[in-house]
Amino acid sequence: MTHLLSIHCTLKPSCITKPYYQPYNRCSNPCPTSLLLCTSRSLSKNCISHRGKPLRRHTFYVNSVHLTQESQTQSLSGASQVSNESSKPKRVMVIGGDGYCGWATALHLSNKNYEVAIVDSFVRRLFDHQLGLDSLTPISSIHTRIRRWKSLTGKNIELYIGDICDFDFLSETFKSFEPDSVVHFGEQRSAPYSMIDRSRAVFTQKNNVLGTLNVLFAIKEFREECHLVKLGTMGEYGTPNIDIEEGYITITHNGRTDTLPYPKQASSFYHLSKVHDSNNIAFTCKAWGIRATDLNQGVVYGVRTDETEMHEELSNRFDYDGVFGTALNRFCVQAAVGHPLTVYGKGGQTRGYLDIRDTVQCVELAIANPASPGEFRVFNQFTEQFSVNDLARLVTNAGEKLGLDVRAISVPNPRVEAEEHYYNAKHTKLIELGLKPHLLSDSLLDSLLNFAIRFKDRVDTTQIMPTVSWKKISAKPKTVAA
Ligand SMILES: NC(=O)c1ccc[n+]([C@@H]2O[C@H](COP(=O)([O-])OP(=O)(O)OC[C@H]3O[C@@H](n4cnc5c(N)ncnc54)[C@H](O)[C@@H]3O)[C@@H](O)[C@H]2O)c1
Repeated sequence: MTHLLSIHCTLKPSCITKPYYQPYNRCSNPCPTSLLLCTSRSLSKNCISHRGKPLRRHTFYVNSVHLTQESQTQSLSGASQVSNESSKPKRVMVIGGDGYCGWATALHLSNKNYEVAIVDSFVRRLFDHQLGLDSLTPISSIHTRIRRWKSLTGKNIELYIGDICDFDFLSETFKSFEPDSVVHFGEQRSAPYSMIDRSRAVFTQKNNVLGTLNVLFAIKEFREECHLVKLGTMGEYGTPNIDIEEGYITITHNGRTDTLPYPKQASSFYHLSKVHDSNNIAFTCKAWGIRATDLNQGVVYGVRTDETEMHEELSNRFDYDGVFGTALNRFCVQAAVGHPLTVYGKGGQTRGYLDIRDTVQCVELAIANPASPGEFRVFNQFTEQFSVNDLARLVTNAGEKLGLDVRAISVPNPRVEAEEHYYNAKHTKLIELGLKPHLLSDSLLDSLLNFAIRFKDRVDTTQIMPTVSWKKISAKPKTVAA
């Protein structure tokens, strides 16, 4: 793994006001994020010692409250509504809050008057550097993002920088922030990335499975009542030739009936890490009484939410490359730069999709309506199903209306998956809780395409084609030139 993740990281954030450090000599994971950044709440004995023992790490104190820019507190829709509902948990820890779904969610929850802390190791930004990738949209540093949010809304977002696979770090964040809910986005989330080579496959499973295991232990040890909202994926189910239920299926076998976890047929080392996570969470709900919601999310598209639109420094990332880009986002960028839409194989691969504005809504609904102690609740989090060919058709039509010359081509499928299959997945539980979906419409496609056109000069066309093959994965580390 060292070729992949070992860099020496010297962090000098401008807002550090009070450094506290002791020799760092422990690193269970070769990630570069061996720093614990605590916010103002966390400058306490808890932050610098663990059960009386000093932490063996560099600990930096970051005062995210005393930000220099002027606050322009404004009343935002939904904020007062939430604050009146005293039953809702107030303190939400967003693990992976610097990422695509996590950043949008952190802002949305902060806007809704939850007290939010972001926990992130920035390993996602490191992947970009290592693979020579970049977001279509310029994205600001986390410090700039948080300062801008504070200046626009007057709301603080606390920040803890570190790797959740480091249990001492995670323990301190729990003791310092005392979350009522933890939303866990903090995983390596690309199937192709997990299939590059042995080291990335091992990293993905170690990062995801051990990180989630640590979160479960942290809840048990420090915040027993805390509700875990964990991002899983619809990809855990695979593509069975029967309807996909929400988490559980009732089966009658040899005259006896039981309701059992729905069978999982994951199709990459990444998807398998999610299955392992789900099993570990379900077990701890049963064994320790943890309350958890597993959100089996579909493929997310779009970039704008009410909050990220407020200022360019709040912009979310938008991946279009063959490793991290998701289907619809990629097609829009391909159309914008005149690249043929890359349909893998026959294009009949059908999946659940949702707008990023619905991701943030779903997470808020899950937090506001927590699972009961001991309950392992599963929601299928998507709003519509499309095949790859459906998406290619929609983007082609929308592109033509904008005067773009769009065509789709079939490229050899780098994945091992059914290219024509039955797919019908249930997704009613979030609707029952009040989800109001933003369905994919012509106007949304227009705006996504216009967005891609606006940033098309930033597109590196060499990153568009898929380069990672499921069948050619090898033990030998593959260095990808930047
Ligand atoms: N984007 C999608 O279409 C999609 C679809 C289904 C499920 N999901 C799930 O949603 C979650 C978020 O996805 P995303 O697209 O925002 O991913 P992302 O890569 O943009 O964000 C993940 C964030 O987690 C952080 N992270 C990773 N490992 C960490 C660790 N050990 N400690 C601390 N921080 C860590 C990364 O630095 C990054 O900021 C993932 O769990 C993913 O599997 C995403």
